[in-house]
Amino acid sequence: MQNGCHTRQVLCFSLYFCIGIVMCESLHYSVPEEKKTGSLVANVLKDLKVDVKELSARRAQLVSEGTKPYFQLDPHSGNVILQDRIDREALCGQKDPCFLLSELVLESPVQVHRMEVEIEDVNDNPPQFSEKEFLFEIPEQTSMNTRFPLESAKDADRGENAVRNYTLSPNDHFRLDVQSHTDGSKYAELILEKQLDCEANARLFLILTAVDGGTPKRTGTANIIIDVLDNNDNAPQFHQSLYKVKLMENSQPNTLVTKVEATDRDLGPNAEITYSFNQVSDTVLGAFKVNKYSGDISVAGVIDYEEEHNYAINIKAMDGGGLSAYCKVIVEVEDRNDNAPEVTLTSLTSPLPEDSPSDTVVALFRVTDRDSGDNGRTACTTETNLPFVLKSSGNNYYQLVTQQPLDRERSSEYNITIRATDQGSPRLSSARTINVQISDVNDNAPVFEKSPYVMLLRENNIPGLLIGVVHADDLDTERNAKVVYSLLPGKVSDQPVSTYISINSETGNLYAIRSLDYEQIKDFLVTVRAVDRGSPPLSSEVKVRVVIVDENDNAPFILYPLQNGTSPSNDLVPRGAEAGYLVTKVVAVDRDSGQNSWLSYELLKATEPGLFSVGAQNGEVKTMRLITQRDTFRQKLIIGVRDNGHPLQSASATLSILLVDGFSDPYMKMVDIPKDEVVKEEDRSLTMYLVICLAAISFIFLVSIIVFIAIKIHKRRKFMESSALNFPVGPNFQENGGDAGAGSLSRAYNYEVCLAGGSLSSEFKFLRPLFPVFSVEPAQNQGNSRISSASQGVPDHQIESHVTNQVRIINSI
Ligand SMILES: *[C@@H]1O[C@H](CO)[C@@H](O)[C@H](O)[C@H]1NC(C)=O
Ligand SMILES: *[C@@H]1O[C@H](CO)[C@@H](O)[C@H](O)[C@H]1NC(C)=O
Ligand SMILES: *[C@@H]1O[C@H](CO)[C@@H](O)[C@H](O)[C@H]1NC(C)=O
Repeated sequence: MQNGCHTRQVLCFSLYFCIGIVMCESLHYSVPEEKKTGSLVANVLKDLKVDVKELSARRAQLVSEGTKPYFQLDPHSGNVILQDRIDREALCGQKDPCFLLSELVLESPVQVHRMEVEIEDVNDNPPQFSEKEFLFEIPEQTSMNTRFPLESAKDADRGENAVRNYTLSPNDHFRLDVQSHTDGSKYAELILEKQLDCEANARLFLILTAVDGGTPKRTGTANIIIDVLDNNDNAPQFHQSLYKVKLMENSQPNTLVTKVEATDRDLGPNAEITYSFNQVSDTVLGAFKVNKYSGDISVAGVIDYEEEHNYAINIKAMDGGGLSAYCKVIVEVEDRNDNAPEVTLTSLTSPLPEDSPSDTVVALFRVTDRDSGDNGRTACTTETNLPFVLKSSGNNYYQLVTQQPLDRERSSEYNITIRATDQGSPRLSSARTINVQISDVNDNAPVFEKSPYVMLLRENNIPGLLIGVVHADDLDTERNAKVVYSLLPGKVSDQPVSTYISINSETGNLYAIRSLDYEQIKDFLVTVRAVDRGSPPLSSEVKVRVVIVDENDNAPFILYPLQNGTSPSNDLVPRGAEAGYLVTKVVAVDRDSGQNSWLSYELLKATEPGLFSVGAQNGEVKTMRLITQRDTFRQKLIIGVRDNGHPLQSASATLSILLVDGFSDPYMKMVDIPKDEVVKEEDRSLTMYLVICLAAISFIFLVSIIVFIAIKIHKRRKFMESSALNFPVGPNFQENGGDAGAGSLSRAYNYEVCLAGGSLSSEFKFLRPLFPVFSVEPAQNQGNSRISSASQGVPDHQIESHVTNQVRIINSI
């Protein structure tokens, strides 16, 4: 530099010489910027070739050109001193080189020296970027080696002190490429060396440093921010590919089942996920719904375990860029005991015959429960008080079998309630009632309402008259209870029973076939059989006793006195007879019985009213007063006899009575003596003897009877009384021990009757054992009288003759 300056001084010299004398050689110095005030810049003595004395003598002075004087000359030493701090950048900017010009003027002679002071650059400015940070947005898919030019840094310094290099903070993705412009200034470019990944690092922070070439180096930095722009390069991803959840059946709609969640590593819309069903069945669609945004799967319909045990739901998650992912949700439905057991009847035997043996299967049924596990485990019961019992035959099948004999007549149907209960909680049960009809078997015979039947039938009935009804009930039903009646063959009075009576087989009505006569038959017995129509038929029989009821169809018949005789007999009464003298006795009988045969007598007409009276009960004709001479010899009485029936029947007897003074005289006069009187006298005496004999025998006979009766009477009294009940006992019997029919019997008979308890029937009973030979059925004894039946021991003709004889006796007397 010293040398260069010298060269320029020489040049300057020559220039000055050329133009005049004034201009002299120029001075050239340099000084670094930023030096302290008072620093020595140069000493001019040598260059001016003057000494210090001369310099001060010549009044040397330094004149700055235009600018503010930075330098000062010390005339005593010749030193140029820095008067102010110099900033090259302020003084010259980017101008290079940078000079400060001034003139050094000497007087005597005037000499002007030009002085150039070059300001040397000092690295006092760091490189500087225009911004503190630079923002780049780079898509993550940008290809490798892409260049991104960076802004250059500025450095106020020049030359080597300007920006010489750039560096980048260490990073994975970028490197820096430093290039030079043609003017030598440097610039840098970012080169992508490694794929950007938004998901890994969405924003990169780099520090760019500009370095200058000064000593020491100064640096400037700027931040480079790189935002990695997202590409939808990531599909959503479910946290689980399979979700397994349990869900109670019958869950209410909107119950949350589960939540599926997928994430997307992308950003922004690329990470916005929506959820939806993917190819799911209609059952799933009906039962569930998915929230599009939250991924909540909830119940939408009916969840029925019995319909579907589990559901497989495919869920699709899709991000905003159209990428999707799938997962599966398995929903297992948990059973609840929401189904009661069901009883299904498979077969039913109804009606069931009542004679079904034990263990007959009545019903077969199945119990099912649509629930599972305990909820579907069932038990089956039925009432215990039935003749049926349940038997399990496995596989939820049950049999209802008979365990006791059945009886339709006791219970014709059963309502059997079968109750099935499951084991769930709460327990559910259901009941089914089956109706079992018991069908009839013919196990009951018809039963008659009464046994025996007694039916009353009035005699003289019209044929075909309804007598009565028999009725038999059969506990069975239908044909088995249909009863048919019939008469059992038999005989009534030696004739088939069917000629007497018939029966309506349907109704049991009994009809009389013929008109019946009490006097002929008093009762008869028939047997009716009732048969049902079952198979085999059952039957029962009953005895029907038809009692013929007497009607007053017979008028009293007068036995004595004989009424049809040509010459009615005359009764003789001595005129001297006292009042109450028994003249005779009217004897009448009535073939009817009971009241119809109770006869009463009355005096209808008399020649001499008031002379005779008739015993109303016994028909005894007695005198009422003494007979006077005025009373006519021949008296005629008409005596009426009537029975007590309804309507009453009557008969009358005419009695002629002769009032005589003695027995023989008037009688002889009045009665026509037959011509063969001698023969008659003999007959009479013979008769007399016979009568005496007969009376004697009778007397002995009667005495023995009385004794016998007296012995027996005590033993037999009870029997007699009960027998006596069979016959009505009227006051007549009480009074005189017999009806009018007994009138003509001897007094002895009357007494016996009294002793016998006043009943005719009892009289028969006494007499019967004595004369077993004559036990003839009274009813069959045609034309007999009350007397004949009353005195069974004596044949009819004998009684008649006895009566006749008695009459004769009276007559003969
Ligand atoms: C710039 O700086 C880098 C890193 O410090 C260095 O490797 C390189 O050599 C420098 N370049 C120059 C021209 O000095
Ligand atoms: C059975 O049920 C039927 C119909 O409910 C009813 O008519 C009948 O009386 C019942 N029988 C018995 C024995 O309870
Ligand atoms: C009178 O009647 C009785 C009985 O009825 C009979 O036996 C008798 O022969 C009859 N006598 C005359 C003469 O008709």
